[in-house]
Amino acid sequence: MTTKAQAFINWVDARFPMTKMLEDHMAKYYAPKNFNFWYFFGSLALLVLVLQIVTGIFLTMNYKPDATLAFASVEYIMRDVNFGWLIRYMHSTGASAFFVIVYLHMYRGLMYGSFKQPRELIWLFGMLIYLALMAEAFMGYLLPWGQMSYWGAQVIVNLFSAVPWVGDELSVWIRGDYVVSDATLNRFFAFHVIAVPFILAGLVVAHIIALH
Ligand code: HEM
Repeated sequence: MTTKAQAFINWVDARFPMTKMLEDHMAKYYAPKNFNFWYFFGSLALLVLVLQIVTGIFLTMNYKPDATLAFASVEYIMRDVNFGWLIRYMHSTGASAFFVIVYLHMYRGLMYGSFKQPRELIWLFGMLIYLALMAEAFMGYLLPWGQMSYWGAQVIVNLFSAVPWVGDELSVWIRGDYVVSDATLNRFFAFHVIAVPFILAGLVVAHIIALH
């Protein structure tokens, strides 16, 4: 590395542990020699998470979270936005790939007992990641505002009405209306694009800190 670039890194390192953090968590941590194929999936899950966020940002630039415009804005992304079809398919196929990868990652954990002492918290953070991931995928599925989105949301939100005593009020509270409507689309958009990705990112950081 050029001396100027190294001098800059040294300047930052004297004020913020950048190199140390990168080495401790990404590049130079101790790892057993006998890691096999099954240990690839944690890093792959991280890669897919980053791809989902990047493609999601570009989708959000052209998507309209409004019941009268949402479907047409998705058609616009598919037909008129440069490489919009590619960005959308990367995001939707990426969502399915995410689950395949996370299931293989969890399968490894079950088969090798990776949930046992002293890794209980890694596993528990993983369970929370999995719950957040399901919520994220479910809310994303409503956004194209097609028939499958609408009826999918109808079915899943209605599951909450099976909760004893408060079920009906609970499902109205989740929808923000008596039926799946513009209010539902707007709040699912807010959760899908901002709230849940933040929670996921925070949980993944906790997962990796606990691991190391
Ligand atoms: C966004 C999703 C996730 C990401 C980015 C992620 C990331 C990682 C990474 C990078 C590792 C270290 C490499 C490896 O062992 O594969 C790891 C380990 C681990 N993960 Fe995940 N993970 C995710 C979801 C989950 C889920 C859903 C569970 C279980 C419910 C889980 C349980 C574990 C366990 C138990 C380990 C420790 C393995 C060991 O030390 O033997 N992870 N994770």
